[in-house]
Amino acid sequence: MSSGPRLTDLLLLGQGRDLLSERGVSCTGELPEASDPTLVARAIAAKAALGSRVLILGHHYQRDEVIEFADVTGDSFKLAQAAAEQSTAEFIIFCGVHFMAESADILTGSHQKVILPDLAAGCSMADMATAAQVEECWQDLERLGVATHTVPVTYMNSSAAIKSFTGKHGGTICTSSNAEKSLRWAFGKAEKVLFLPDQHLGRNTAVNDLKLPLNDCVVWNPWKPQGGLSDEDIRNAKMILWRGHCSVHGRFTRESIDEFRKRIPEIKIIVHPECQNEVVTAADFVGSTEKIIKTVSESAPGTQWAVGTELNLVGRLAAQNPDKKVFFLDRTVCYCSTMNRIDLPHLVWALESLVNGQIVNEIRVDEETSRYSKLALEQMLAL
Ligand code: 13P
Ligand code: SF4
Repeated sequence: MSSGPRLTDLLLLGQGRDLLSERGVSCTGELPEASDPTLVARAIAAKAALGSRVLILGHHYQRDEVIEFADVTGDSFKLAQAAAEQSTAEFIIFCGVHFMAESADILTGSHQKVILPDLAAGCSMADMATAAQVEECWQDLERLGVATHTVPVTYMNSSAAIKSFTGKHGGTICTSSNAEKSLRWAFGKAEKVLFLPDQHLGRNTAVNDLKLPLNDCVVWNPWKPQGGLSDEDIRNAKMILWRGHCSVHGRFTRESIDEFRKRIPEIKIIVHPECQNEVVTAADFVGSTEKIIKTVSESAPGTQWAVGTELNLVGRLAAQNPDKKVFFLDRTVCYCSTMNRIDLPHLVWALESLVNGQIVNEIRVDEETSRYSKLALEQMLAL
């Protein structure tokens, strides 16, 4: 596997540090040392001491050292389902990012506590749409008289406040595994969709799956008056795409697909739908992390794959499929720096704190936000 340069540490010094200061530094001075040779034994002991009181959920982008302790691993849809279905565990340790832990809190009972081992594990895409910006956009749509014909469809990768906005306005949440179904549902209700916050997932689903012409999509730039669009642009558009993107998937390129095809003509390319449209269009398969794993794992021995998604997942996929050749699609793309915030020291710290009767880094969504977000999340689960 070609892994490309390991840029995680550089990213942690940049984006990671900003998120740290935004969300508050967690567990200063209390974390076990990463070099502590007893970390694995400590995690095993603390997990055993908590028994069925704790459930550990692990997103596919998590580090191996964390995934090893997950009771359920999955994409964001599967983990939301697991949280919704699990009514007995007192503590849910979410090894993923902030918006996922918020969704788990919304979908679990009030007797259950959701814990994010590091509060700095955010998502740069989710941070690209604030509730105030989305409200402002909706007011513009109302002023133009188009809000009544518009349904918001919001990607899971968004704050609870934006999920709540979506629920209030009769919309649905979607994930990368059900975006097509969600958009078809929305277009059955209204003539326009406001898609938040990932422009790529919105465009790829509208154009490649629903076969809408590309010029039915416009991009709303929250930093410009009226999204940088004319009244006519907005009135004519079927899809209003928020100007957000994933800083990891947005870096895969068409050129690396072409290079792979030239070098290995029989290669199969599979990418995540958060990639740019030209990348998704040039690939052989597109799908959520769960679908990527299934497609590669079920392919014939000897098949060669170039995979365009986060590096932790691709590394594990290569290790778990020694009968195939699994390559990472691009040399310049790296780990998701915020997913990587969760490491074994943070997990041990969260588990041992619970054993000692201390609930740390609890993620709590207020009741009002929770009520409307739940409507939108349940709409997704019902689809
Ligand atoms: P899925 O888990 O839905 O594939 O999404 C990937 C992702 O970027 C999560 O942040
Ligand atoms: Fe957010 Fe992209 Fe990381 Fe997913 S991979 S958590 S969308 S930054």
